[in-house]
Amino acid sequence: MLSTRSLRGVDCRSRAVAQPRVAIGRGRLDIVCASSAKFFVGGNWKCNGSVANVRKLVDELNNGSVPKGVDIVCSPPFIYIDYVMQHLDKDKYQLAAQNCWIGGNGAYTGEVSAEQLQDFGVPWVILGHSERRSLCGESNEVVAKKTAHALAAGLGVIACVGETLDQRNSGAMFQVLDGQMQALVDEVKDWSKVVIAYEPVWAIGTGVVATPEQAQEVHAYLRRFCQSKLGTAVADKLRIIYGGSVNDANCKELSTQEDIDGFLVGGASLKGSSFVTICNAAGAKAQV
Ligand code: PGA
Repeated sequence: MLSTRSLRGVDCRSRAVAQPRVAIGRGRLDIVCASSAKFFVGGNWKCNGSVANVRKLVDELNNGSVPKGVDIVCSPPFIYIDYVMQHLDKDKYQLAAQNCWIGGNGAYTGEVSAEQLQDFGVPWVILGHSERRSLCGESNEVVAKKTAHALAAGLGVIACVGETLDQRNSGAMFQVLDGQMQALVDEVKDWSKVVIAYEPVWAIGTGVVATPEQAQEVHAYLRRFCQSKLGTAVADKLRIIYGGSVNDANCKELSTQEDIDGFLVGGASLKGSSFVTICNAAGAKAQV
């Protein structure tokens, strides 16, 4: 496999042919091109749940055994964030909102600002999810401006990109991804608190998961894009997570792909045991 991470200052990505990933360690040769990124798993509950369901899910998550050293972020609907914050085990899980307003507080009926999330103690926000792009008309520019504003307010951002099936089939996939990424590059100055979620629209909620090869191809492409625009140091540290019909059965294989640094999970995050299994896919990654 063509390595896409840099290795001790050597850029693996620019090589035209696959190179063995060789690093010298303690007098032996290790075949690695180690990820410098911490595995990241987000659970996007979307507009699902009730008081009773959320209670049950929080209990299941608290009872689950999840690995340390993985960023695990649960994203309930706004109305349940308070309850989840009070009851979810903070040693295991962090919180994310599913959206925020493009600017600060003010006369924006129905919106929640990044400043309010920060004030309330919510450290992450998901922005640019394909459902918000398609259902709420959020353009690349709006998503990028929201991202910059949320970062300035002190939040971490899970910024979503991805192509539709028509775009993939018509050969426009990379152009679409370029547009989504370039808008972010134009607005974001500090990438240290950004996670990119590659979520092919055709895989979201459909049960049709991207193959590990399809996902790896795009993740490597996105990393190369970031490398060319932002430099190797930023691109290597940037976490690029995959979303779209991830479940407890397919997560392990996906996680072993070199440029997959975690997952954004929708449907399967609503079942505590499935989500916990997905969080444990970090272990499979560690063994690669
Ligand atoms: P899914 O959703 O896992 O249900 O496909 C993923 C997402 O939309 O983030």
